[in-house]
Amino acid sequence: MRVTLEQAVAELKQGGVVAIPTETVYGLAADASNDSALKKIFITKQRPADHPLIVHIGSIAQVQDWVTDFPETAQKLAQAFWPGALTLVLPAQPHVSRVVRGDEPTVALRVPNHPLALQLLQQSGLCVAAPSANLFTQLSPTTAAHVEAGLGAQIAVLDGGACNVGIESTIVSVTADGHWQILRPGMISEADIAKVAGADQQLKLVAHEAPPTITPKVPGQHALHYSPHTPLSLFNSRDALIASCASLQTSDTRCAALLIGEGATPPCEFLTLQNEPQKVAEQLYAKLHALDALKVDRLLVELPPATAPWLAVLDRLTRAGHQ
Ligand code: TXA
Ligand code: MG
Repeated sequence: MRVTLEQAVAELKQGGVVAIPTETVYGLAADASNDSALKKIFITKQRPADHPLIVHIGSIAQVQDWVTDFPETAQKLAQAFWPGALTLVLPAQPHVSRVVRGDEPTVALRVPNHPLALQLLQQSGLCVAAPSANLFTQLSPTTAAHVEAGLGAQIAVLDGGACNVGIESTIVSVTADGHWQILRPGMISEADIAKVAGADQQLKLVAHEAPPTITPKVPGQHALHYSPHTPLSLFNSRDALIASCASLQTSDTRCAALLIGEGATPPCEFLTLQNEPQKVAEQLYAKLHALDALKVDRLLVELPPATAPWLAVLDRLTRAGHQ
């Protein structure tokens, strides 16, 4: 059910949940200071209750309401990237709900870069906790229609068009003494972060390592995540993908493919992404949703090269394919 900004504000103030647009993916929002509202997020998503949530705030000034320390490193990152696709994990004040923290001593904060989300935060005067607006482990939504397809037509959705970053924010934890670490890769890269924060404690995200092993343990990060319903196979080369498609078809297995860039094409239905990391990220979930809707037996996905600019896309694809 599509709602207006005014209806979304009223619903959130009454302790309801509303799917809201951000520049990364749609979030399922609830008042971050209202535990009974927050519990509705977990029920709607069918998500385990110990998973922490990202709190969306309207401005850098609001950080001080949530944290015990706002080290200079984190301040610099906030100034450089907010509003934007960066989440900062910082030491939490004692009042921060355990439902938000997932029992961690920290809280995750971000100022989203979407005009409707910012208006909603401003008009409601609330800070809203919002995980991606999909069922647990499934593909994140980047349009209002994706939200409705995943959570049902009864869910209240504030339609802000298609998300233009397209994959979830980069999560960086910063300790009180200013050390930082990337907990989840995103389109704001390690190099972007290091340029602002200094090359202090960053992980060595070297190109030849596989994404799942370089993502440190972080609550709520599962190997099986961001998955379409259709089983998905990943391919390092176009030739291998085409060969697999041909052999599946001889065994009467229906498949569809997601390709990156020009080149030879497989003998099945396929979608092509422009060969550029930002473009692939923006379209990735939309194309996977579209291929999933074909209800074939298997999706064949071409992987981008294992180089730094592709790290976040590789991370999401590897998790989607982990089955
Ligand atoms: O782009 C995004 O980040 C989107 C939009 C809606 O803002 N949100 C999103 O939320 O991806 P979600 O719930 O799907 O992912 C939140 C993740 C958690 O699963 C966990 O890995 C991490 O953020 N997180 C949240 N709070 C944390 C904390 N206190 N300590 C460590 N990790 C935390
Ligand atoms: Mg999610």
